[in-house]
Amino acid sequence: MLKEPKRAKQKSGFVRCDAFYFVFVVFSCSLNMASAVSNLAASIASKTKTKKKHFVSQKVKLFRASDPLLSVLMWGVNHSINELSHIQIPVMLMPDDFKANSKIKVDNHLFNKENMPSHFKFKEYCPLVFRNLRERFSIDDQEYQNSLTRRAPIPSDAQGRSGARFHTSHNKRYVIKIITSEDVAEMHNILKKYHQYIVECHGNTLLPQFLGMYRLTVDGDETYMIVTRNVFSHRLPVYKKYDLKGSTVAREASDKEKTKELPTYKDNDFINDGQKIYIDEENKKMFLEKLKNDVEVCFLAQLKLMDYSLLVGIHDVERGEQEQPEEESEDNDAGEEEGTESDGGATGSPPDSPSNTLDSNRPLGPGEFDPAIDVYAIKSHENAPKKEIYFMAVIDILTPYDAKKKAAHAAKTVKHGAGAEISTVNPEQYSKRFYDFITTILS
Ligand SMILES: *[C@@H]1O[C@H](CO)[C@@H](O)[C@H](O)[C@H]1NC(C)=O
Repeated sequence: MLKEPKRAKQKSGFVRCDAFYFVFVVFSCSLNMASAVSNLAASIASKTKTKKKHFVSQKVKLFRASDPLLSVLMWGVNHSINELSHIQIPVMLMPDDFKANSKIKVDNHLFNKENMPSHFKFKEYCPLVFRNLRERFSIDDQEYQNSLTRRAPIPSDAQGRSGARFHTSHNKRYVIKIITSEDVAEMHNILKKYHQYIVECHGNTLLPQFLGMYRLTVDGDETYMIVTRNVFSHRLPVYKKYDLKGSTVAREASDKEKTKELPTYKDNDFINDGQKIYIDEENKKMFLEKLKNDVEVCFLAQLKLMDYSLLVGIHDVERGEQEQPEEESEDNDAGEEEGTESDGGATGSPPDSPSNTLDSNRPLGPGEFDPAIDVYAIKSHENAPKKEIYFMAVIDILTPYDAKKKAAHAAKTVKHGAGAEISTVNPEQYSKRFYDFITTILS
């Protein structure tokens, strides 16, 4: 047994789970289920036996990333999905599953030394809950694993809160974001309600699709990461990007931001650009219905969350067509990788079947998308001045209206005067103002 140093940083909500700490991996999540317990016992036993061999016999592929942290993420996701594939899918999730975690500590990892640190820890939060969420979002675990491990994730421009770092999976389907321990605590706070909401709306939501949450420990430094579905397309590049909150105070891109290749523009830029989102009545109705439920009626306002944004990405079809060749080769590449699976006649599979639609047999033309993968895509209507594809979803939902927020409110009131329109209102006001603003941008 190793001695687990007490971590002051951790929130009391999941300290309890730390009591189960084995040298190898522990799925404390399914302890309440007899079948799972035997699985668990078997898994630990086999692990203990094959522990040494496990590390020296790896030879297939290396997790090669510029950043050792990414190598650890790839290693961890590979490990986690493999472990989960041996754990039966429970009939239903239990309350304990929402507090559970699995951990693995690796010492003297000598294999692949150039890319991997020799000591690291990998912890997955609520593995069964996130597996269930992936399923509800029609994401196949094998595909998820491949996306995050076949090649290193690529750094991308920050999409949200300043300072936040992002990566996308090599195939751009998933976004990996570094979050704070407060975010992890908040995720635990909302996870049960979030899961319930995803069940009720059948995954049909503009909220972030949370797919996995991890803690990586390298050199004693803990890094928390969360994986979500990419709001933008994995193949249609976005040429203009907005982060909208429905507030106009200090809501424009800085000059520095504007020098970036793909700047994040804000509310005032949207208004000053005369930007419009040209979608037809049916799409508009569906979009706003989802948004209203997510934001005002069912979720964010109820959970007293705020400061979220609508991330908007615009793809110009004509421009995409001109820049096609480069993209084509990338696509072929990806198709080849997954080719073995789809060779066996995926033609008859329904459009929403998770794994086989990934790279459909029929090549997509300019501006075309597979709605099973680019779930947020909406195309411009017939009378739009330009043929465009829009990608719109809610991001950065983990800010609770707590004491910190109230302090910010006080500070802003002092600065802008009590009557000034400020972005720190209460969650209900925030959701109304947000929703009202978004209705005005759709044309
Ligand atoms: C991924 O996990 C499997 C099963 O644990 C293991 O055999 C394989 O070597 C791992 N891949 C790498 C590159 O470590």
